[in-house]
Amino acid sequence: MRFLVIGGTAFMGPHVVKRLVGLGHEVAVFHRGKTRAVPPAGVIEFLGDRHLIDQHAGALLAWKPEVIVDMVLITEADAKDLMRVFEGTAKRVVAVSSIDATKAYGVLHGTESGAPIGVPFDEDTPVREHLYPYRGKVPGLDDYDKILVEREALAHPGMPATVLRLPMVYGPGDRQRRLRHLVRRMDAGRPAILLEAALAAWRGSRGYVENVADAIVAAALDPRAAGRVYNVAEEPALEERAWAAAVGAAAGWKGKFVEAPGDKLPKALQADFNTAQHLHASSARIRKELGYKEAVAFDEGVRRTVASERANPLPPKPEETDGDAAEEKVLREMGKW
Ligand SMILES: NC(=O)c1ccc[n+]([C@@H]2O[C@H](COP(=O)([O-])OP(=O)(O)OC[C@H]3O[C@@H](n4cnc5c(N)ncnc54)[C@H](OP(=O)(O)O)[C@@H]3O)[C@@H](O)[C@H]2O)c1
Repeated sequence: MRFLVIGGTAFMGPHVVKRLVGLGHEVAVFHRGKTRAVPPAGVIEFLGDRHLIDQHAGALLAWKPEVIVDMVLITEADAKDLMRVFEGTAKRVVAVSSIDATKAYGVLHGTESGAPIGVPFDEDTPVREHLYPYRGKVPGLDDYDKILVEREALAHPGMPATVLRLPMVYGPGDRQRRLRHLVRRMDAGRPAILLEAALAAWRGSRGYVENVADAIVAAALDPRAAGRVYNVAEEPALEERAWAAAVGAAAGWKGKFVEAPGDKLPKALQADFNTAQHLHASSARIRKELGYKEAVAFDEGVRRTVASERANPLPPKPEETDGDAAEEKVLREMGKW
């Protein structure tokens, strides 16, 4: 089959492309050319900005993609453009969304009222009532909202969509460097690391990059996924204390985690969200309906991520150096340093 991957050259995208090519499919990527990646042999590269997709629509349509895997659907306008350009020609769209569409995410960050949503929540969990979660908070993401992306993608019976709600994705190439705050301190030889007690017990869904890419490919390949929404997440969602311990084990760190109440901790080590709301999404549906399961074992994914973190160290920022000193002071006062 012919797959057009929009994005496809950073983090998860190259794994999606490689897997599709490995299965014998024809693949093209459409991206701006700002992210350097060497696509596997035979992959066609269309260069352009999705925000100017009309300028490239002729070339993209002439290639006759059957399934569009869109890795960079950020705004409602992105989704409208996508559906307008390909409806009537492509068979299906795979829209990469996020667990941040859920009401639980809003409760977590205090933008939604009400009691915590029970976990694990499935794909029928309510979505946020308040749109634009990053408006005024994250530069460039004022119009970001996966709720609007999902609604638009699912509103075209003439070109069905599959929506994948991704968790926190970790792995080599993660620009968010989700393990760095731990690995940096472990590799500095610190004998102890503080964890806020409430945060230590918090659970959030995660996924290792290659496994998440496999889930995207499973959804792209299977026509039964048309019109369906799937959470992608490791099971179980670990408590932060268990996650931190897994990172410590992969790093070969011999120190100890010390749990303490938030009011005893420096501000930087206090959770800046509502720890009563766990963000544990059930991935039972994609496992049952599409037969998805992780190919890379949990320990191995964490090990590869730690290795990548070590291979690409970043110097500590001034606020991190200050935070390290504040953490050491608290640990000394507790007799744990
Ligand atoms: N990372 C996570 O933890 C996480 C969690 C939940 C959901 N997600 C979702 O997962 C998706 C993929 O994330 P990712 O982190 O793997 O990707 P990414 O690192 O953000 O890569 C983005 C890709 O899109 C291309 N791109 C960016 N802007 C573009 C534009 N205007 N026009 C055309 N191409 C463009 C980039 O190439 P060029 O720079 O060359 O254009 C690159 O290939 C996103 O939709 C994100 O919201 C991610």
